[in-house]
Amino acid sequence: MDIVLVGCRGFGKEHLRIYSKLGYDVAIVERDPEEARRCMEQFRISKVYENYEDALRSNADIIDLVVPDGLHYEMGTLAIRAKKNLLVEKPITPDIDSGISLIQQANESKLKFMVAEQFYFDPSVAEALRRIKNGEIGTPHTVIVRHQSYRKLEGWRNEKGMVGRGILIDEGTHYIDTLLNFGGNFRSLRSFVHRTWDYVGEDTAEAVFNFENGMHGIFFYSWNYPEYPLIPEFEIIGDNGSIYEDVGTKPLEPWTQRKRKTAYGDIIVNGKHIPVETYDVIEKEIGGFLESVEKDEPVPMPPEIALRDIITIDRIYKASSD
Ligand SMILES: NC(=O)c1ccc[n+]([C@@H]2O[C@H](COP(=O)([O-])OP(=O)(O)OC[C@H]3O[C@@H](n4cnc5c(N)ncnc54)[C@H](O)[C@@H]3O)[C@@H](O)[C@H]2O)c1
Repeated sequence: MDIVLVGCRGFGKEHLRIYSKLGYDVAIVERDPEEARRCMEQFRISKVYENYEDALRSNADIIDLVVPDGLHYEMGTLAIRAKKNLLVEKPITPDIDSGISLIQQANESKLKFMVAEQFYFDPSVAEALRRIKNGEIGTPHTVIVRHQSYRKLEGWRNEKGMVGRGILIDEGTHYIDTLLNFGGNFRSLRSFVHRTWDYVGEDTAEAVFNFENGMHGIFFYSWNYPEYPLIPEFEIIGDNGSIYEDVGTKPLEPWTQRKRKTAYGDIIVNGKHIPVETYDVIEKEIGGFLESVEKDEPVPMPPEIALRDIITIDRIYKASSD
């Protein structure tokens, strides 16, 4: 299978790490020759294209886009028109119509299309869901998902056309994905989204959810929380118990440096630490996509899930009275 990865400067390196691990030599599109050289030194790279159009004219089966969010739609459309299967980093696109269009185009062309959202594959979330279904916390009534950090918004993340309305639709999608995987469909929500420093988009969001299954949800996401505490990023409270993330095993390093390649730490179930069997979530995600192309099977995470996540974020933006 011939794969072309587009954009190897940042998170593209995590994708290259997986292709090398799985034994694939891949071609890359990288406009910065210095960056291309660094990637070639580190990973199994067969060819470097200086421009995207040349890569689209190649025999590649798969285009993997790890480029700024604002380019996902335009570059994804070109890939589908060139009859390439498509993997796109999250979020699917910064706006809903473009996301719907990408899904339709891929369906009409009978090509595989997946959004790379590694949080969807997290083993702790899967184990927590299994135990909730098993009745271990009774009837769940509240889910709390929150993430806080103190990070500068630089480069394309501070350009309106590239990041959309702010950091919630860029990185916050991971946590909305987790919230909805626990809560399911929701009936209504209330929200506040705000800009707490001099930045082109929002950097802090609060929302409360009323889920169809009777649960309620609390969501908090911010990149402007100086000296933030270490707290569980997900908690599910039932009438007969609770499950929350264990902060003691939580991976805290950036993805490129972390040894435990999961989104979350283990879980605490009814006060007891449960070690979760871990695996590399990015390998699970990309490996699963490659297998779906190879065997012509459905992708492991349907793109409609990624669309669900940005539709919810759009609702949060629209419901905000700030
Ligand atoms: N899943 C995750 O945990 C995670 C983490 C970080 C980033 N991301 C996603 O990955 C994508 C890239 O983010 P990043 O942090 O790696 O950004 P980055 O700025 O580090 O890298 C962007 C890459 O895109 C390339 N690029 C930019 N414009 C291009 C163009 N017009 N044509 C071809 N290549 C172009 C750049 O050369 C660079 O290699 C974004 O969609 C982001 O949301 C996901």
